[in-house]
Amino acid sequence: MIKTNYTKITTKTLMRMKSMGEKISMLTSYSYTLAKLIDSAGIDVVLVGDSASNVIAGNRTTLPITLDQMIYHATSVVRAVERALVVVDLPFGTYQADSKEALRSAIRIMKESGAHAVKLEGGFEVKESIERILQAGIPVIGHLGLTPQSIYKFGTYAVRAKEKTEAHQLIKDAELLQELGCFGVLLEKIPASLAKTVTSKLKVPVIGIGAGKDVDGQVLVLHDMLGMTQEFHPRFLRRYLNLQELIVAAVKQYNSDVKSQDFPNESEQY
Ligand code: KIV
Repeated sequence: MIKTNYTKITTKTLMRMKSMGEKISMLTSYSYTLAKLIDSAGIDVVLVGDSASNVIAGNRTTLPITLDQMIYHATSVVRAVERALVVVDLPFGTYQADSKEALRSAIRIMKESGAHAVKLEGGFEVKESIERILQAGIPVIGHLGLTPQSIYKFGTYAVRAKEKTEAHQLIKDAELLQELGCFGVLLEKIPASLAKTVTSKLKVPVIGIGAGKDVDGQVLVLHDMLGMTQEFHPRFLRRYLNLQELIVAAVKQYNSDVKSQDFPNESEQY
C-alpha cells in the first residue's frame, strides 16, 4: 500500500519507507522508453542492471558487459526518469581488482550518466572498494546471495545459502555492508526465512528477488515480468503480461498487411 506520495525518491526516502513499513518497488530498465513508462507508473527504484548483458545483448551471463555499455544504458534511463532513484550495476571486472579502480568506475558511472547510486556484488571480499566509493560520496547498495557475476564459481543458478555456514556468512556480510555505510542490501535467490532474519537485523532497506515476502522491497527484471523473455522461468518470477505473444501476433499482422497491401491505406498516406 502506498502510504506517502513522494515526488522524488532518494536513498533517505527508502530508509523512511522501511521505517514506516512501506514496501519498496524496484524494476530493471536499460532504455529511455521503458524507463519513462515504469517511472510514470510509480516504481520507486529503477535498476540499470548488468542483466542487460543477457536481456539486451543475448549473452549467457552478465560477465561480458562493459563499463561503457552500462554507462550507455544508464544515460538513456536517467534521461527518462523524473521520480525514481536510478541505481546502476558496476559490471564484472570494474571493482574487484583494487579499490582505486572501483572508485574510478563508480565515478565514471555517476559523472557520465547522471545516475544516483551504484550496486555491486559481494561482501567482505569487496570491502575496500565499497569503502572508497562511499568515501567519495557515492551511495552504494550491496548484492548478496546468488551473485550472477560469480556464476562460474557457483556453477549453477540454484538457491544460495541453504547451508548453515553460507547462511551465517551472508548475515555477517549483510551486517558489514550496513556498517560500511551502504544504503541498502539486495538479496537474490536465498531461503525466505534467511531473508527475513537479515531484514529484521538491518536498519537499511533489504530488497529481495527470490527472497520471499519478508523483506523491505522487491525487484524483478522488467523484460521477465512483462513476458518478453520466455526461456527463463524461476519460481519467484510472476509474469504480469505475455508480451512475447502480443508482440509476435502484432508483427505477424503487420507482415501480412504489408504483403496484402492493406497497409498503408488512404488515411495513412500524404
Ligand atoms: O542485473 C540485474 O538485473 C540484477 C537483478 C537481478 C537484481 O542485479
